[in-house]
Formats: sequence, structure tokens, C-alpha cells
Amino acid sequence: MRDIQSAITSVEQFYRDRTPASAAAFNGACMVLPGGNTRSNLHLDPYPVVLREARDGVLIDIDGNEYDDFNSDYTVAVLGHTHPRIAEVVGEQLARGMSWGGRSSAEALLAAEIIRRFPAMEQVRFVNSGTEANVLAMMTAFDATSRQRVLVVDGGYHGSVFSFVAHQPRINIPVPTVTVPYNDVAALEDAFAMHGGSLAAAFTELMLNSGGCIPAQQDWVDRLRTLCTEHGVLLVVDEVMTARLHQHGLQHRYGVEPDIVTLGKILGGGFPIGAFGASADLMSMYDMRRVGAAAHGGSFNNEVFSMHAGVVALTEILTGTVLDHMNAEGDHLRRRVNELFIRHDLPLVMTGIGSTMALHVGVEEPQRFVTHPAAPAVRRLFHLGLLVKGIWVASRGMIATSLATSHTQLDRFVDVVDEWASENADALRAHVAASDPLAGRPGGRAS
Ligand SMILES: Cc1ncc(COP(=O)(O)O)c(C=O)c1O
Repeated sequence: MRDIQSAITSVEQFYRDRTPASAAAFNGACMVLPGGNTRSNLHLDPYPVVLREARDGVLIDIDGNEYDDFNSDYTVAVLGHTHPRIAEVVGEQLARGMSWGGRSSAEALLAAEIIRRFPAMEQVRFVNSGTEANVLAMMTAFDATSRQRVLVVDGGYHGSVFSFVAHQPRINIPVPTVTVPYNDVAALEDAFAMHGGSLAAAFTELMLNSGGCIPAQQDWVDRLRTLCTEHGVLLVVDEVMTARLHQHGLQHRYGVEPDIVTLGKILGGGFPIGAFGASADLMSMYDMRRVGAAAHGGSFNNEVFSMHAGVVALTEILTGTVLDHMNAEGDHLRRRVNELFIRHDLPLVMTGIGSTMALHVGVEEPQRFVTHPAAPAVRRLFHLGLLVKGIWVASRGMIATSLATSHTQLDRFVDVVDEWASENADALRAHVAASDPLAGRPGGRAS
């Protein structure tokens, strides 16, 4: 029987054989970029694939290999990669010129559509990324409460300098935080009892996204809302990644009213964007007609391509019906993959909501962020194993479909995972059992 390390070694050799141009490009990139990389989650050993172009739901690398895209740029590419209406509106805008350094009418149109979708946002400010949206939300909360500490969730991700996935990254902004485990009501109550009076804001995702597509539990969300209100803490709901799961976001599904909402990713029709918003009263601190208003500049805050593409994406394409359909197909895909894992008697489970999901070791769906000791090797075999079969997923085992994902691609995905499971079932079971005997069926643990 092959062990997991030899399975990984053999798939890695296959990967190298298919991607010589990527290997050469990587060596060149390492001369000018640290580790050949400028977006850490795209790092891959021995080297990442370098892409040449994308069409609909397909990516093509510089060796000419094609991949069905099951990552959708970590959820950004909800429209696929070549939506004709986006190409059209961007072409029109290009003809009118870029970088105006003045206002366009698109920004108010986009803000109006966002407000329609997210009633907790009575007014909106645009920024360039989800990270920036969350940092600005935090500064807004500090200003409004005259407090300077935030509650965050273990496994939460709010941006490159505001992350609580695994370890606090070395480059996190130096803000005092109180970290609680996800979906743990008792721990939440303890944290508020101890720190409630000093907290400006509580940040949460309604599904841990980078933390493994783990949905929030309703009672935990309800308790968080109540505790925030009781302690004068602003509840910041980060829908940067989850806005694609319902036209009114997950906050609608959970029936929770945030004090501040942050958005990004799908909002700009594929172009860089972020936004934060709240009640008109809170947002009035940015009203430049008022004496002492908070100035919030940003060279690209109202960048014309993001604004125009965003208006088309939200008002013409990503309707409630279209999003519901895409997410129902995602739910169906996740069920099919989980059935397949059960059929192969594999201690693996796919969690998530709708079009966004992630792979975990274990047979129970995890309720909070935990790292199973077997997970790194299992995810590496999954990632490389699928890549060499022409399926593109995130290295951490995250999957996101898009409007461009065809039924043929969905079926092929299930077939490829089935084939991967058949080829590696023994190695996977043995590795998981050796890492943690409790993880095998029945009644195992999950990561
Ligand atoms: C929930 C969440 N918040 C914030 C961010 C940061 O957004 P950006 O990468 O645009 O800075 C991300 C990115 O993945 C995210 O998933």
C-alpha cells in the first residue's frame, strides 16, 4: 500500500512534468519578488502554476494546460472570467478615459444598489479592498465609541493585516484584541463580562471563510448581537466573501442587523474594490460639509472601472434569482462530494454554504476553527491531485463555483474527486488514522 508521502511525491513529479514553463517563470520571479510571490495564498511548493489567460470558467497556464476553475479567485470571479457585459461596460469606460480625479455618477448608483441589498448600510464609503474596508470599519468604531479594542474570532480573516487564521500573522496591525472561539456562546459571554466595557467593536464573519467555510450557529449570532447592544459595542459583520451567498448577504439569512457592514470581492464586477457602511448617523462623520469631518482619501476610492463594472454586475447580472440558483447548485455539489466520501469510507467532509466550501479531515462538520494534524498532507494531496487532473482549487482545499461553472464542469468535478478518492483511499485512511485515531469513522473529529 502506498503511504500518503509517496502519493504526494508521485503526483508532484507528474505536476513538474506538466509545468516546465511555470517552473522557469518561477525561478525568474524569485529574483525580483520574495519567494517569487506577491500574494501569499498563491504560494505553492515546489512552485505555483503561472497562468496565461482565462475564459468563462476555464484557466489556461503558460504550458497550455487547461483547468476547470473551482476557486473563482477565492470567490471574486463570481461572473466567471469573461462576462460579455463586463467587457462591454469596461470597453465603453476605456473609451471615455481613465483616472479622472473627479466624481462619476456611477459611484452613487453603486452605493444605492448596495444600500438596497444591505439595509443596515444607510450610507457607504468605497475603498480598494476588503482589508481596507475592515480597517476603516475599525477606525470608524474607535472614533464613534472612544474605545480602542476589538473582539475577534479565532480563525477569522478580515484582511492581510487583520487575520486570526492559525497564528496572528507577524504583520497584523497592532490593535488590542480579545479572541474568542467561533460558535461558543459561553466563551462569548465570558469575554463580554470581562472586556465588554473596553470594546469598540466585535468583528465576525457569518461563515468563517478562510478559516474553513464553517457556518455560524444561529444562537451564537443572536447572543453576539445582544451582548454588543448591551455593552455599547459596534457589531461589524464582514460579508466580503459571503455577499455572493444571497443578494442580501448572510445577515439576511441569520436575521441579524449589524452596526457596520464590510464588503469587497464581487462588488466591483471583477475589479478591485471594498466598501464599508453603517447608519447615516454613524457615517455622517465622513460628511465633508460638517466641521471637523473625518477626511478619508484614497486615490482609487471611486476608480471608474470598478464603479461602472460594479453597477452592471449588481444591477444587471447578480440578481437574487441568479445568486439563489448558483448557490443551490453549490449546495448540491457539496452534498454529492460528501456522499462520495462516505461511499469511499473516507474520514473527510466538505463544509460550507452554497457556492463556497472547504475540505476538512474528520466525519463531523467542525463548528469552530481547528487544525487536524493530518490536514496539511491531505489538503496537499487533494490540491496537487486535482491540479494534475485539470481542476483548479485553492491549496487550502477551498472551492468556489461561479455563474460560469457549467453542468459539465460540475459533473466532471465529482468524477475527478471520485477518481482521486479511489486512487488514494488507503493512503488517506492510514494517514488520518496515524495522525489521530479518533478521526476514523464512526464518531471522529474534524479539523
Ligand atoms: C471575510 C474576508 N474579509 C476580508 C478579506 C480581505 O479582502 P481583500 O483580499 O480584498 O483585502 C477577505 C479576503 O479573502 C475575506 O475573505
